[in-house]
Amino acid sequence: MKHDLLGLKELNADQIRNILDEAADMKRVVLSKEKKIHNLQGKTVVNLFYENSTRTRLSFELAAKYMSANAANISSSGSSVAKGETLADTAETINAMGTDILVMRHNMSGAPHILSKLVDASVVNAGDGMDEHPTQALLDMLTMIEHKGHIEGLKVAIIGDIYHSRVVRSNIYGLTKLGAEVSVGGPRTLMPMGIDEMGVQVFDNVHEALVDADIVMGLRIQLERQKKGLFPSIREYFRFFGVDESRLKLAKPDAIVMHPGPVNRGVELSTAVIDGARSVITQQVTSGVAVRMAVMDMLVHGGF
Ligand code: NCD
Repeated sequence: MKHDLLGLKELNADQIRNILDEAADMKRVVLSKEKKIHNLQGKTVVNLFYENSTRTRLSFELAAKYMSANAANISSSGSSVAKGETLADTAETINAMGTDILVMRHNMSGAPHILSKLVDASVVNAGDGMDEHPTQALLDMLTMIEHKGHIEGLKVAIIGDIYHSRVVRSNIYGLTKLGAEVSVGGPRTLMPMGIDEMGVQVFDNVHEALVDADIVMGLRIQLERQKKGLFPSIREYFRFFGVDESRLKLAKPDAIVMHPGPVNRGVELSTAVIDGARSVITQQVTSGVAVRMAVMDMLVHGGF
């Protein structure tokens, strides 16, 4: 039976820990001079991206290449998707070319779940609408473990556009399963219904969410997904919810600052915080390649 990674909602704590353990080993490969292992030799990885992406797509592509797979990219502009081909027909084409792993990003929640039923390849969700982005949450957790040694008991404050964020949903599933305490903060208009039933503390201000946090995670204000003004202006957002150096003092003195990227400088986080000593944003990017290597290896060779 083939395995997919569609979300962290359906994984249990042990499965998440197994991926993080393997990712820690893969990180050594990413940081080595050689950057080459042969775990996916002869396998084909296709990145099918229906939404813009810089780091996630490159990260999957490099992860595949570091493991000696054949890697190819399809984006919606410049492919037959732009000519109106249906998801099902695209899937059939990909299937016919002997793809082993299909990495998919789509603006519609649930699209990878549909695709997974249509193809023989293992499907990895690289972000579906406002649903999940499991490898992002896994790379966030790997980075937290590298700095704090564990997830259990950590106080994680996630600040920003909670409503539109698939990153926050995957992080909530993963972090709460591994025993972290998660608080979310942001404008009330950017809080989804039912968020308080996800086992997190919800604040409509940034101060209370930040108190004593070990981890401060900013989330991008997703203007492209907002159909109407959900807050008055970017300037006002930063004044009330932006994390700057003075607000960061509310968190623990050794708190680290994270962001999945792309960052709107001076909106979610001040430039001083982004470039400051406590920011681990670039390490998250490196962890991302390791996590994707681990996930693809385990999908092909077992472990899920
Ligand atoms: C995130 C995404 O696409 O969901 N970015 C990413 O994968 N690095 C977050 C975002 O777009 O704000």
